[in-house]
Amino acid sequence: MDKMKVVGGKALRGTVRTSGAKNSALKLLFATLLAEGKHTFHNVPKLMDVDSSATLLESLGAIVTRKGHTVTVEVKAPGSFEANYDLVRKMRASILCLGPLLTKYGQAQVSLPGGCAIGSRPINLHLDGMKAMGADIELRNGYVHASAKRLKGTNILFEFATVGGTENIMMAATLADGVTTIENAAKEPEIVDLANYLVKMGAKIEGAGTSIIKITGVDKLKPAEHTVIPDRIEAGTLIIAAAIAGGDVTVADCVPEHLEALLAKLREAGYGIETAATSVRVRSTGGAKCVDVTTAPHPGFPTDLQAQFMALMCVSEGVSLITETVFENRFMHVTELQRLGADINPKSRVAVVRGKPGGLEGAPVMATDLRASASLVLAALASRGTTTVSRIYHLDRGYEQLELKLASLGANIERIKSDGSDDSELA
Ligand code: UD1
Repeated sequence: MDKMKVVGGKALRGTVRTSGAKNSALKLLFATLLAEGKHTFHNVPKLMDVDSSATLLESLGAIVTRKGHTVTVEVKAPGSFEANYDLVRKMRASILCLGPLLTKYGQAQVSLPGGCAIGSRPINLHLDGMKAMGADIELRNGYVHASAKRLKGTNILFEFATVGGTENIMMAATLADGVTTIENAAKEPEIVDLANYLVKMGAKIEGAGTSIIKITGVDKLKPAEHTVIPDRIEAGTLIIAAAIAGGDVTVADCVPEHLEALLAKLREAGYGIETAATSVRVRSTGGAKCVDVTTAPHPGFPTDLQAQFMALMCVSEGVSLITETVFENRFMHVTELQRLGADINPKSRVAVVRGKPGGLEGAPVMATDLRASASLVLAALASRGTTTVSRIYHLDRGYEQLELKLASLGANIERIKSDGSDDSELA
């Protein structure tokens, strides 16, 4: 498997552009199942998770074509309504085909996603919502078997503002009979992007981006064309890279309003942050200090930037308390950061980081999940000597050419292609 080799100590300078949002693109691709015909998306990032979604759509009879960053999906009535285990286990977001298939064709069989490195991540809220809309749901042989003549609009109150649950129910409700109201809906920008596309397809949706979303079902939707929003997590990762390595970097083609929680924390830590309409400039003047961070659903501090921010705290002055409230097991990067010399004491959902400016030293480390991998690459930028990060297939799931983007800013980073000799790691 490929590895990333990073030699730390280089300041970053220049401008780098943000790619399209992974977490938007995946949902948009699954939304195509709501209308037969040709859907077109621009600014689709080149990522493994996007490829996995395309493979799943193809297994349902669609033809997916990519030209650069434009993807077209030609949807036909599927011969089967099954999302099989091999496809779903590679990417949990595959569960997002359940709502569209069920509401459009009255049936779906989707493999249960199973456990995940960052916590158990159940789908009970998705299923309860669909049951409340009149679906018959059974769990058999590791699959969700769902059926319904036509889903019926109803009121759904989520106990937790689930991103995937909000998206699945919103898509299911577009073709349901009557009005569905989602209360305590998640407010992430990717949900707004999905709603915008569904509205282009002919759906009636109000309130996306607030905690109450109202969807009035229609009889039919049609394919449309859309440009994916910029990836706020990738932009945030690049911004933290500039902060941790030092220097002066402009992250272009992003939406600064989507990054407010991060930017506020960076300002508090002492970084110079300037925003323009579609870019963020970050300047490090040295001596940044530790600040406390608690993750929360949007517009709170994103859990998907927690690991990267922890890496930054490891080399800042003082002590930082990092509290993870969204997932129960999202500190797997801690032991790897400790291999670089970080002083972190994790207890349940809170980690105490004692910052050591200039105190990290390169080492071989291993990526455990997507955002953890990014945190190791960032920590390596601030470490003395060489770090090799293995299992970077996690990184490739969610970052488009991160190493090339960092290298273009002056980082000493390169991908070492696998010669196959160490693939026993896979086991
Ligand atoms: C999405 C994002 C992920 C991000 C997360 C939170 C995608 C593809 N992934 O994941 O990058 O970290 O939002 O911002 O968009 N929960 C339940 N029951 C459910 C659903 C969720 O208990 O039915 C719990 C989960 O276990 C977790 C929390 O709710 O603790 C948040 O999960 P959710 O918002 O659903 O995250 P995802 O949609 O899986």
